[in-house]
Amino acid sequence: MTNNIESRPIGVFDSGLGGLTVVRELRKNLPHEKIVYFGDIARLPYGIKSKQQIIEFSKQNSAFLSKQKIKALVVACNTSASVSMPALRKNFKLPIVDVIGPAARRAVQLTREGRVGVIGTTATIESKAYDRAIHRLSPKIKVFSAACPLFVPLVEEGWTQDGVAADTIKKYLTPLIRQNVDVLVLGCTHYPMLKGKIQQFVGPRVKIVDSAFPTVNFLKEVLHCQGHLAPANGQKGGLEIFVSDFPRNFIRIGERFLGQKMNPVKVVRLK
Ligand code: DGL
Repeated sequence: MTNNIESRPIGVFDSGLGGLTVVRELRKNLPHEKIVYFGDIARLPYGIKSKQQIIEFSKQNSAFLSKQKIKALVVACNTSASVSMPALRKNFKLPIVDVIGPAARRAVQLTREGRVGVIGTTATIESKAYDRAIHRLSPKIKVFSAACPLFVPLVEEGWTQDGVAADTIKKYLTPLIRQNVDVLVLGCTHYPMLKGKIQQFVGPRVKIVDSAFPTVNFLKEVLHCQGHLAPANGQKGGLEIFVSDFPRNFIRIGERFLGQKMNPVKVVRLK
């Protein structure tokens, strides 16, 4: 491990594998960066847990990544980000980027009619974190949200292309579409795996915001401003994956999220 800040890794965590959709984008846009990922698979799903519990888990995940000498932390879990950012900012003195702010900014840029839909886990939607983030930028925008608790298990099971996915999407999204939203934020890092089917249902008029790209763009800006981007000619990027459990279908699902083969992962138990 080197002491040059720019050569240090970027830490990324999620409750499970959904955050790998952000890692995929990171690898594409910042190929020289080293990434340390932590997926808290043993304690997934976060989306149905209490606020206190989610904050506690998020602090433990961040503490683990901080020990890996990271230069910045990406909270690639909307559920964690929706309730734990103040606690994380208070406890960890390093740049922290979450998925909500950048996705909200993108939604505000894209809406023409000022009607934005947001979907996420029950905890994310109940926290109203997206409503706040969007209204901070543009108070007049109307935000319509829906919790879609069955999307995470559908994605984890790999049922993203069939009739079950289409029926579930229809059931959850019909009320939002009736509100004539023209932008839909995928407020959960699992949902990009359902993007094709969701776009099919909402039609081409509705622009879909996936938090991965805006988040990576924002992180790039932050690292650039601090002079902490990995030198483009100096180092080879890399990805190290830690998980809190190693379930049976891990490799199959993980590779689908990541869009590439996975190197061996390490299991760590957090307390
Ligand atoms: N990937 C998490 C998110 O972005 C959701 C999964 C969970 O419920 O733990 O909110």
